[in-house]
Amino acid sequence: MSQQQPALLDVRDFSLEFRTRSGTVRALEAINFQVHKGEIIGLVGESGSGKSVLSYAMLGISDRAAKVTSGSAVFGGMDLLQADERSLANLRGREISMIFQSPRTALNPIRPVGLQIQDVLRRHAAVSSTQGADLSKSLKDRAVQALREVAIADPERRAHAYPFEMSGGMCQRVMIALALACRPGLLIADEPTTGLDVTTQAAVMDLITGLARERQMATVFITHDLALAADYCDRIVVMHAGHAVESAPTAALFARPQHPYTARLMSSTPGERSTIASLAPVPGNLPDLKRNDLPACRFAERCDRATDRCRNERPVLNPGLPHSVACWHPLQAEAVTEPEPAHV
Ligand SMILES: Nc1ncnc2c1ncn2[C@@H]1O[C@H](COP(=O)(O)OP(=O)(O)O)[C@@H](O)[C@H]1O
Ligand SMILES: [Mg+2]
Repeated sequence: MSQQQPALLDVRDFSLEFRTRSGTVRALEAINFQVHKGEIIGLVGESGSGKSVLSYAMLGISDRAAKVTSGSAVFGGMDLLQADERSLANLRGREISMIFQSPRTALNPIRPVGLQIQDVLRRHAAVSSTQGADLSKSLKDRAVQALREVAIADPERRAHAYPFEMSGGMCQRVMIALALACRPGLLIADEPTTGLDVTTQAAVMDLITGLARERQMATVFITHDLALAADYCDRIVVMHAGHAVESAPTAALFARPQHPYTARLMSSTPGERSTIASLAPVPGNLPDLKRNDLPACRFAERCDRATDRCRNERPVLNPGLPHSVACWHPLQAEAVTEPEPAHV
């Protein structure tokens, strides 16, 4: 994937906190994150590291407790962090789509799935050149076609089915059909296969990544499962406690992990990628993001390489480098350029 082209989505210095009664949760800090056309990216980290918050921010922040304290997230010339609700609503489902973990709760239980797909197509006027009976026929055809594209057998009949008449894997396919009906340029899939059995998981992953490649659709695939990301993604961005700590092409990341946290995630199973366990437990816990005295590098307290510099000066990813690490004492330091000093 060419890093020279301007990014489809360019997130710079993005910080977000939740101001709650019990304190301020510093959920994201100084995130640099780029997505290029056609690229499949794995956003990987332990539960609570900020993966979902980062991705939901790309669709518009609805939680009133959430405050953006710095940065920008530019998509198609528009800063998503500043955009009004109307512009965001226009974008959602049409240019940026999302697939969630639990399709059953995301689907309307009392509407046939074919009609739910028609609703999305109509909302975004994806069939605007036709009217009346033609429009209704065209919507119906497009919905059936969308089901066919996600490899649902007998889509004409299935279009009339309700979600409860379908298996979990089938519901996830319907969700994918809904998300992709308007051919978005960017798909965000948040743990799309968690809760599915292994065979269904592989089928769903093959489906999403196959369609992504075919359509040159950028895909951000969120997971706590490093092995799964390794099998399907071109590039992996590792998150820890609200920081993006390493970003690299998948092969380079596994060949030369540079952040001590990334290395720890991999350490339990050296060797073949496919045998890597789901995130190996890393000693220590994520720091409490409500603390006022968080170290500048939030991994410092779990890291045996940490120095005063790590506690006091925040390292961030350099968006200009294909393999970039936010660490003052990276592994294999000879191969690394210094991280950028943080904006103050
Ligand atoms: N609405 C909210 N109010 C307060 N804190 C939140 C809210 N949503 C998420 N958080 C906090 O933000 C952090 C990141 O959460 P999340 O993005 O869901 O993690 P992940 O998806 O990586 O498991 C967590 O500490 C979580 O408790
Ligand atoms: Mg999450």
